[in-house]
Amino acid sequence: MTVRNIVLVGFMGTGKSTVGKKLAERLGWSFCDSDAVLEEVQQTSIPEIFRDYGEARFRALETETLAHILDSEGQVVATGGGAVLAESNRICMLQHGFVVALNATAETIIQRVSSDTNRPLLQGNLEERVHTLMEQRKHAYDFAHTSIDTTDLSEDEIADRIIQQAA
Ligand code: S3P
Repeated sequence: MTVRNIVLVGFMGTGKSTVGKKLAERLGWSFCDSDAVLEEVQQTSIPEIFRDYGEARFRALETETLAHILDSEGQVVATGGGAVLAESNRICMLQHGFVVALNATAETIIQRVSSDTNRPLLQGNLEERVHTLMEQRKHAYDFAHTSIDTTDLSEDEIADRIIQQAA
């Protein structure tokens, strides 16, 4: 594997963290979840950051966190679904790793996130929020080196494809 890092991007609920852990295990690399690192460094949770300081502050912290993480090598990095919205983050990801977009249908995403109350941007009517955000972000993940439709694939199959494509 000649790539420095593998960076997983995609909408909330596309499986970045579960696939990322599996992939890291298979490669013998470390796994890093940028949201988890941000929460650890800030000693608080993402919903609390949104509530107390707003989304703009969260985005600034997200950019700082990503830049810090991507300074190292040999990691599979799962990013937050909105990390791709800032051009500087996209450039940073492309410069420091092989960027893989995971795609899933709105139905799959709604099913996966329905029991989770930890996502500030999905509060309220879940179906409506997912459809609106997916529409707003429909091209947001196009910059990735490659993309994988995860709909009918197991985590192992997704990891296999990423390994083949990153080689
Ligand atoms: C967000 C996705 C979340 C988290 C935050 C904002 C987004 O991460 O970063 O709630 O804007 O799509 P996951 O994609 O891991 O849920």
